[in-house]
This record gives sequence, structure tokens and C-alpha cells, in this order.
Amino acid sequence: MTGPLASRAQLLGNSKCWWDNAVGYQIYVPSFADYSGDGVGDLNGITSHLPDIRDLGVDLIWLTPFFPSPHRDHGYDISDYRAIDPRDGTLADFDTMLATAHDLGLKVVLDLVVNHTSDPHPWFQASRDPVSPYRSWYHWRRGEGTRPPNNWVSSFGGPAWTYDDRSEAWYLHLFSPHQPDLNWATPAVAEAVDDIMKFWLERGVSGFRIDTASYLAKHPGYPDNPRRPASAPRIGGANASDWYQLEHLHDIDQLDDVLALHRRWRELADRYDALLFGEVYVLERERLQRFMPDDGLHSTFWFGPFEHTWDPQGFVDMHIQTAAEPFTVSWALSNHDRSRAPSRLGGIDRAVAVQTLQAGLLGIFWLYQGDELMVRDGIIEDGVVADPLSHLEGGTRGREPSRTPYPWHDGPGHGFTSSPTPWLPSSPAQGDTAYTVQRADSSSHWHRVRELITLRKQTPLSEVQTVQWQPGEIPGSGTLEVGQRKLLVNLSDKPVVLNASAVPPETSTWLCKEIEYR
Ligand code: NOJ
Repeated sequence: MTGPLASRAQLLGNSKCWWDNAVGYQIYVPSFADYSGDGVGDLNGITSHLPDIRDLGVDLIWLTPFFPSPHRDHGYDISDYRAIDPRDGTLADFDTMLATAHDLGLKVVLDLVVNHTSDPHPWFQASRDPVSPYRSWYHWRRGEGTRPPNNWVSSFGGPAWTYDDRSEAWYLHLFSPHQPDLNWATPAVAEAVDDIMKFWLERGVSGFRIDTASYLAKHPGYPDNPRRPASAPRIGGANASDWYQLEHLHDIDQLDDVLALHRRWRELADRYDALLFGEVYVLERERLQRFMPDDGLHSTFWFGPFEHTWDPQGFVDMHIQTAAEPFTVSWALSNHDRSRAPSRLGGIDRAVAVQTLQAGLLGIFWLYQGDELMVRDGIIEDGVVADPLSHLEGGTRGREPSRTPYPWHDGPGHGFTSSPTPWLPSSPAQGDTAYTVQRADSSSHWHRVRELITLRKQTPLSEVQTVQWQPGEIPGSGTLEVGQRKLLVNLSDKPVVLNASAVPPETSTWLCKEIEYR
């Protein structure tokens, strides 16, 4: 693949947004830093470590949910959208965290989880009464006899419908039965969520990550989904094997209705100069592009590197092709739902190479907490796992290995908590990656990431006209040219040897590990 891949003139025309070329940092709140000593991360813990994040060159932080919750899905099941769960702190702690972040030049974005609420949420409890005005806020349907209303399944396994005796009806949940789906066809739902967004925007947050951003709307007729051929690939973001047996034509990805919502939120966000970026789990680029019109979400994650098996040239190609799409991509290597990149891709060197490539591309460059240390998956003993997915496929599918506490120091507890019983164990395998160890060692990965971010920021977006990939001799290696920025990248498992005198002076001196100057 050679030559200009994309003229980004259109992007340049819109390049006045504060998030263009930004560096984001995802904090998985339960596992970042525990200030209170109860074994679970909290807001004060985040506040105390904001300077560490700022020192890396980060511009914005995404906080995973910290709202009151029964924690059936670790906070992605919210029972009050305008408060703080007591284990995470108070609203005053939130305000202090936000003010500290702003003083340090960091913006903060929150998780908007509104495909569903938790089951104790007062809206859902009220909706169980068939004559309540809240009835239409959820998807309540009558089945046939003892059979649910249709064949939809939950992405966490099992049917997507649960029968409620009190209601004498079934309710829909695309995740666990403790996460009933809101009915976005009801105008009052959209109004209530607008108010929640305004509540946080007025408080000073700079936007939202939209959870399951393409799932929100459902087909109003609730038709059965057709079955898939057994040979169809198991990709697409869901976790349960039941899920792969159906074509998801009617339960998710209802393009027009989903876009209507995104546009509604966009109008609101624009009034606050706020960023909306989505978890749109659509892998095919053409289809993903349909979810990203100019007046919808500002950016979306793209999950290609999470779903494809390792193939150096294939990874280069899919990144470069996605970078050529006419929307702002949020690049990510790891997150709280998938095995961490060094474990998933088969080694730290591969993860470092993909991280380098992503850092060189236009868009938002996201780090998941620990990516800057190349943290691997933690080791979770049997019985420790609390993830709702852990019951699937022999208990091997839990997401906890990617959620183990951040290794701040070497030694017991790794500096995450003073509690002898952290909610998840720090993994011994992570000791050599501790933050303090890496900060003190100028050759560590933490310092490489900081240099990479510095390099990224040295190329003002206004100078960027094209993205080019110049392939090297070994498949999977080459030079990424983004405007004046040149980045040597090597995803192959072989070392690339370069003649130092042949390297143009403007080329980055930050090199992927496996490229050697001779
Ligand atoms: C996506 C979140 O990232 C994941 O952790 C959660 O389980 C589901 N959405 C349901 O909210």
C-alpha cells in the first residue's frame, strides 16, 4: 500500500475542535486508585493522581461510571444518574476532582449509559405497574403462553426477555436481566436523559462516551431475528455464544432511529463545546461510516484491533484504511472489556508497535490505564470473578483480567490500596511494570509513550494534508507520513535495520523497539 491514502481537506476544514489530535486516557474507576482504603478505586484517588496523567501529555480523561449502582455490571447498571455511589465518593469529591483536572489543563468526559438502567432504578420500578406513566419507558411485552415475545437474546447470554410476575409481562434487556433496556421511542425518556446530560455539562464536564451507541433503538414491531449460518464469523462485540446464532437485524443498529438520537445529543453538546464519542461496535468500515454523519457523534471507537487475530500487514492495512474514513476515529489498543493488548496480541513488542501506529494517525489517541506501562492481563483465581460474563463458556470469558488494579508501586497491593482485600487482586505478573519504577527509568515504556505524545503534538493539525504509508521491505513495516510527521513503524516480528544516513532528518527519532539504526 503506497501513496496518499486520504485527502483530509474536509477534516482540516473542521479542525477547530479542541479534541482534534487529542490524547485521551480511560480511567476504569474501580481499579485506578483507592483513597478511602476500602479496596475499590474512588474519585479522591483519581484526584491525587491527576498530575501523573497530565505529565504523560494527556488532554482528556474518560471516567467509567461512578454513579449509584448495585454493581451487577460494575457500574454499567445505574440507579441514579445525578449522584455518586458512596463507595466512589460524593458530589463534592467530584467537583474537587473536576476543578483539579481543569487546573492541570485536563478535560473530563463521562460515560453515558442509557441503553439501559439498573433494575432498582426508580423509573424501572415504577414501570412495573401496568398503569404507571413510566410503563412506556421500558419495553414491556406480553409473550405467548410461557414463551417470551420473540427470539431475541442477551449479549450476556440467555434470552433477552425476563418475565415479571407483578407486571404479568416480559421486559427486554440486551445485557443482564438486571439491566432493563430503556424504550427510546418514548419522548419522555429522551427529555429525561437530556436533563441528565445538562446536569453534568453545567457542572463542567466536557462530553460523554456513549455506551453501546448503536444499540439504543429497537424495531417497533419486535420481529424475530433470523438465524445465522453456523459458519458465520463470531465477531461484532458481543460476548455470548447465543448472540452469534442470530442476525441482529431488529434488536440493534437501527440506523435512522439511532442517528436521530445522536443528532439530538449533538445539538445539546455543541451548545457546551462538548465531545460525544461512541462505542459503536460496527467493524465493517462502510457500515460504521453510516453511523457517523457530520451532524451526529463527533467520534467513535473502532474495534478492528480487538477482533482480528494478529497479522502484521493486515493490522497495518486495516488501520490505514480506517484512518482514511471521513470521520474522527478514536483509536484504542485496550479497554475494560477485552484482554489487554500485550496479552491479546501475543507480546509486548506487538502491542508497542500497534500503539506507535495509532499514535501517528489523525483522530483521538486513547490510552487505557496501564497501556502506558504495557500492563498485561492480570491473573484471576477461580471464585474471584464477579463479572456477569464469567458464567459463559466455562467461566473463561470474564473481563476481570483486563481490570486488575493499576500498579502504582512494586510490593504488596502495588500502591493501589491500603486494604488487604482489594476488590480484584493486583497481579504478580504486573509488578515489573509498576509506575514508579518506570518513571524513574528513562528507558522505560512510560517515557517512550510520553515522547510519542510529544512528537504527535509537534505536528500541528493545520499542516496535515495527507496520510501516507510507505511500505518497508518487510511486510508490516514502513513509514507513516502524516504531514511533516514521519514515524517508522514495524509490526513484523523481524527487526528492521536502517542505514542511519538514509533516514531523513525530519523522521521521528522515537522508534519502535524492533527498528535498529546501524
Ligand atoms: C459496554 C461497556 O463497556 C461494558 O463494560 C458493559 O458491560 C456494557 N456496555 C453494558 O453497559
